[in-house]
Amino acid sequence: MAIINRIADFHPDLTAWRHDIHAHPETAFDEHRTAEFVAKRLAEFGVEVHRGLAGTGVVGTLKGNGSGARAIALRADMDALHIHEKNGFDHISQNQGKMHACGHDGHTTMLLGAARYLAETRNFAGTVHFIFQPAEENEGGGRVMVEEGLFEKFPVESVFGMHNWPGLAAGQFAVRSGPMMACSDSFEIIVTGKGAHGAMPHLGIDPIVVAAQIVTGLQTIVSRNAHPLESAVVTVTQFHAGDTWNVIPQEVVLRGTARAFRPEIQDLIESRMQAIADSICAAYGATANVRYMRRYPPVVNSEAETEVAASVLNAVVGEKNVRRDLLPSMGGEDFAFLLQKKPGTYIWIGNGENREFLHHPNYDFNDDILPLGASYWARLVETVLAKAA
Ligand code: NI
Repeated sequence: MAIINRIADFHPDLTAWRHDIHAHPETAFDEHRTAEFVAKRLAEFGVEVHRGLAGTGVVGTLKGNGSGARAIALRADMDALHIHEKNGFDHISQNQGKMHACGHDGHTTMLLGAARYLAETRNFAGTVHFIFQPAEENEGGGRVMVEEGLFEKFPVESVFGMHNWPGLAAGQFAVRSGPMMACSDSFEIIVTGKGAHGAMPHLGIDPIVVAAQIVTGLQTIVSRNAHPLESAVVTVTQFHAGDTWNVIPQEVVLRGTARAFRPEIQDLIESRMQAIADSICAAYGATANVRYMRRYPPVVNSEAETEVAASVLNAVVGEKNVRRDLLPSMGGEDFAFLLQKKPGTYIWIGNGENREFLHHPNYDFNDDILPLGASYWARLVETVLAKAA
């Protein structure tokens, strides 16, 4: 691995920072200690610090020693999850019920490592903005930063993101142009029937029987309506009804998640869901109330920025360690909101094979890859914002 030597020197510091952040996880929009930690480090490096976007967001701004008006942004996420950590190591979460189970502690640390190196060397022309965002999980902190004027306050030509990926070997990266992560939509279907005595079903309209058929019917959206070569997921994750043994309830609440890579497929899922729920309910005299909520758009990488990232990674880890063959993920990621405004690319850094997957209570970010990710960020800045020869 061609880790930048100076960044390798920081490895003990990076590990200590990562453990500190891991031990003090904070969830959406509550990343006060983490934001303070980040802002303090950036100021120590001599990076200009801006705070307050989306509440706990931090943006560091650094100019290179070459002349140029160009600017790019690198983004890391800072938030943790509501998970009870099951690890036994010294840096285990000290905040009961909260855990860095998605590696955002590592993402924050790698970007800090790059900022430290770039502030020392400034071997680039133009400006780099280091974006540390809150609330990637569930709450769309990236969207809030964009809405509060992220790119008006910090104009850039492109934006770059990185997430660790368990199962992908440490020392490898995954890069792809086009869709990388799916949209994340939520839906709720309330089926209203007519409550009755469990022994006298003919006197009621049983919403459980109706809702069960809706769950089955929803399976045909992906298998029968979407083009076979399109990717989509419709998953019912909640089926709530009834309180006791001998009562047919009045109502069933279904909830779930839908994923796709293109807005046309989101439209298809939404319209078919409505039609299936309405028609099945009509057949039995029940009614359906369908709510379809578009949460995160898909992450779609632009071709030019993806190729630049790949060329940088080829230089950092060698071409054979830059995987161009991995399938995109149906998981969601709020970096999508930044990519809706600016071209850019979102890559995966291998967190190691045989490691727990993201959001598992035994997950941990792999400290070995901290200098590798920081080296990618640093070389990316030096490449995209290269000084004139
Ligand atoms: Ni994550």
